[in-house]
Amino acid sequence: MALDRHTSTTVDLRSDTVTHPTRSMRRAMADAEVGDDQYGEDPTVNRLEERAAALLGKEAAVFVASGTMGNLVSLLAHCGRGDEAIVGDESHIFRYEGGGASALGGIPLHLLATERDGRLDLGDVTRAIRAADPHYPHTGVVSVENTHNRRGGQVLPPAYLRDLATIAHAAGVPVHLDGARVFNAAAALGIPPAVLVADVDSVQVCLSKGLAAPVGSFVAGSAAFAARARRQRKLVGGAMRQAGVIAAAGLVALDEMVDRLPEDHARARRLAEGLAEIPGVSIDPETVQTNIVIFRPPAGQDQRQVIAAMAEHGVRISDYGTVGLRMVTHYQVDDAAVDRALAAATAVMAPVAVAVA
Ligand SMILES: Cc1ncc(COP(=O)(O)O)c(C=O)c1O
Repeated sequence: MALDRHTSTTVDLRSDTVTHPTRSMRRAMADAEVGDDQYGEDPTVNRLEERAAALLGKEAAVFVASGTMGNLVSLLAHCGRGDEAIVGDESHIFRYEGGGASALGGIPLHLLATERDGRLDLGDVTRAIRAADPHYPHTGVVSVENTHNRRGGQVLPPAYLRDLATIAHAAGVPVHLDGARVFNAAAALGIPPAVLVADVDSVQVCLSKGLAAPVGSFVAGSAAFAARARRQRKLVGGAMRQAGVIAAAGLVALDEMVDRLPEDHARARRLAEGLAEIPGVSIDPETVQTNIVIFRPPAGQDQRQVIAAMAEHGVRISDYGTVGLRMVTHYQVDDAAVDRALAAATAVMAPVAVAVA
């Protein structure tokens, strides 16, 4: 299968969202059978939802426009107005989704500290779940992220998710998983995604990140959850019509792009090992388990200046503020791109580091 890997002379490591659809996705989109999805009549959307649910081992799935929409409709499906969502202070839901759950759903976010490996401490979760008392808000959901974006793509193992679910379920609280990159997590663990998410009540999965589809995510869970999520998708304006045109790319993403994710992980590890050799750069390559690499430049180097200098070498990376700088590998990043990124990083960061040392 020919992948149209190189669309630019720049090495773009800002995110795996920058991937372009493959040729076979474009062909599938052009040929997609479509119908009106709001009547449940788009055969391609229906196939994608069935396939997504089966892959995740859940009763049903709902195709949504984005990861943000997937998390939003999931929280709306679990919570009534005033119900709290327990989330990490480094979670995507808290930091990067415009406060949508609170703004649109009246769902306050109850923040817990995110551990260095992306977990929420189970004792913290136990204490955060509210007792039944009219003074307190009701706890509507607990949400964790896998892989964890701001924790450098680290993976939560199934045993942790089981323990978390046991605590939440004992209090009658469902667990949501922001699994934007859950296929990366499953690949890193070497287990089927369905095993990884078996204990959570809902999961949001992005097709448009490492799987390279141009648009779309899905949420999966019980049939009752999916029915509520579908209704909430309508409320937020996310119900579409001949959406099979984009769902077709999502099907190709599931069929053709999952098995190659370990390549991205190996390249991310090589990036991390190369960065670790630059004097003063702070990174532990052992924590790079998937396709995200977060590092700090040598002391005294400004992150934004490093980004600008790397861009002059044709390598684009992201500012992740308090946690450092981020590079993400994806299918448009090959071995030569990794070499180029490391050469640029050395040219930009080594001279000052040597002077400081
Ligand atoms: C962990 C995580 N969750 C959710 C999202 C949201 O996805 P989207 O950009 O499709 O809204 C992202 C996007 O980067 C993410 O990294």
